[in-house]
Amino acid sequence: MTMHDPPQARPLRIGVLISGGGSTLANLVEHIRDGKLLRVEIALVISSRRNVRGVEIARAAGLPLEIIRVRDFDTPEAFSAALTAALDRAACDLAVFAGFLCLWHLPAHWLGRTLNIHPALLPHFGGRGYYGHHVHQAVLAAGQRESGCTVHLVDAHYDHGPVIAQQRVPVQPGDTPEALAERVQAAERELYPKVLQQVADLGLAWLARFS
Ligand code: GRF
Repeated sequence: MTMHDPPQARPLRIGVLISGGGSTLANLVEHIRDGKLLRVEIALVISSRRNVRGVEIARAAGLPLEIIRVRDFDTPEAFSAALTAALDRAACDLAVFAGFLCLWHLPAHWLGRTLNIHPALLPHFGGRGYYGHHVHQAVLAAGQRESGCTVHLVDAHYDHGPVIAQQRVPVQPGDTPEALAERVQAAERELYPKVLQQVADLGLAWLARFS
């Protein structure tokens, strides 16, 4: 592609980073397979754990996969450098966190093109320790009337960078963390592909306006 081609001339190559169940990865695979997410290609899956369902999902979908675990490196910096090298090698345009629970000290060239989805309305109920059911428990304990999910740019802190998009869901009377999680996950399954489609259609430059 030359500098003069429109951004949508070739597929957006995404690197998907996972640590567990891979539900977000599975959703993206389905959207691409069903033609609901166009001109997006999963160029690489990186898992920070070996024996997780997300790895099985990546293998079953025939996706390029690398296992990169914190414990295999002497320092957090060396772990981060391995993540960066893998994404660069695979010529990914965009890094997509999908239940990735490790901290990546991302270098300057990945700032502004790394996304995360968080199961709450950031800046509330995010940060260290706010993952999985802990998030929904905290939302219910605080008596919130609504929750939702947030797609944001990743920076050096957990659940912190600029917000790209949010989808709200109501908290129902008598909700359990599980019931709320289900409602939020349904919203996530819509919101993440929507944002990725925007990036594929409008180019990475579209993300820059949020920084
Ligand atoms: C997503 O629901 C998202 O809220 C959070 O991690 C979840 C995916 O985890 N970032 P997993 O793929 O089920 O491990």
